[in-house]
Amino acid sequence: MSESAEQRLQGRRILVAVSGGIAAYKTPDLVRRLRDEGAAVRVVMTQGAQAFITPLTLQAVSGHPVHHDLLDPAAEAAMGHIELAKWADLIVVAPASASTIARLAHGMADDLLTTLCLATAAPIYVAPAMNQQMWANPIVQENCARLTHYGFHVIPPASGSQACGDIGAGRMPEPLELREVVVAHFLNNTDQPLAQQHIVITAGPTREAIDPVRYLSNHSSGKMGFALAAAAQQLGAQVTLVAGPCQLATPAGVTRINVNSADDMLRAVMQHVPNASIFIGCAAVADYRPVQVASNKIKKDSDAMHIQLVKNPDILATVAALDKPPFTIGFAAETNDVLKYAQSKLERKGLNMIAANDVSDSSIGFNSDENAMVLIWRDSHAKMQQKQLPLASKTTIAEQILRHAAALIHS
Ligand code: C5P
Repeated sequence: MSESAEQRLQGRRILVAVSGGIAAYKTPDLVRRLRDEGAAVRVVMTQGAQAFITPLTLQAVSGHPVHHDLLDPAAEAAMGHIELAKWADLIVVAPASASTIARLAHGMADDLLTTLCLATAAPIYVAPAMNQQMWANPIVQENCARLTHYGFHVIPPASGSQACGDIGAGRMPEPLELREVVVAHFLNNTDQPLAQQHIVITAGPTREAIDPVRYLSNHSSGKMGFALAAAAQQLGAQVTLVAGPCQLATPAGVTRINVNSADDMLRAVMQHVPNASIFIGCAAVADYRPVQVASNKIKKDSDAMHIQLVKNPDILATVAALDKPPFTIGFAAETNDVLKYAQSKLERKGLNMIAANDVSDSSIGFNSDENAMVLIWRDSHAKMQQKQLPLASKTTIAEQILRHAAALIHS
């Protein structure tokens, strides 16, 4: 699938868990199909799985070393099992052997795969694959019922001829069918708290020209703003994404407007915000721009040079100050006294809500794929409230921010 085609799993983190069974030969294709849709995929294998297919194959198709040992200090140091359990937005066990199903159904954490499944908060899809007689065995059926009772999603196996020569139910669904199950999970159209809302989101850095070839800018990757755009679209909103220069694919169903400078960004926002019910200022807008942009490339003739700067317009504050402002959400990246500065920004810019994070922690913020935030707002009695969003993928954080905003708007 090309970069520009619609990628329905963009930004999603899928942990593919492989247990022992001949159907494991289909799992590398599942990994590829998930990645075709933009998902980041990590793989965990049981020992049994490695008798059917090698970790090297799955490393090659996933682009990451495969995890298989609970007690391997080197693997734990790279990405520990709890970290991996938190990393996943969704786990799919494919194939799930009768033994793995039994161990999951009884809460046994006797290898890495089962430990991860017990330690995660992510939804878990299980694709049983086994001989038709085994699948019909009441013990297996009871274990599957137990899994369903505990919130696992058991994907019914397909019927047909089996590797062992039998004919009946127990075949793992084809990779493309499994992928559609994963996609459907994230595109669950019944859960759309932002239906009827038009959201304008700014994202990425801005570039402030010095001359035709040079500019002032910052390290913003745009990942948080793009994650918000994707999540808003999936929660039912119509989304306009005003993006500074960044190398990210446009999320499916989102209208993207590319801009360079803060002035361009302000113009694009003011054009679209009159129709919007929510505005999210997520861009790292350059604070200043050169007073004059040289029309020709500046020569390095002198040992020192001075560029006079002027303050850029504050896009967020401008939107919040409109006569009929949309529900306005800002971000505050701080290195110290995070809550204090975020609260004063909320007041000073006249926002409905602010999402604050501590950028002195290099594992979160700017170029990272993860974030942790505190949401701050005033309730209907003008009392300051706050809610912690613990460390999670930017996709998950984006969804939490939007669900919270939807709840405030509908309250
Ligand atoms: O004042 P500060 O830059 O810390 O505020 C951050 C918030 O304000 C972010 O939501 C950012 O997108 C927005 N902002 C803006 N225009 C500016 C500066 C910041 O919209 N010129």
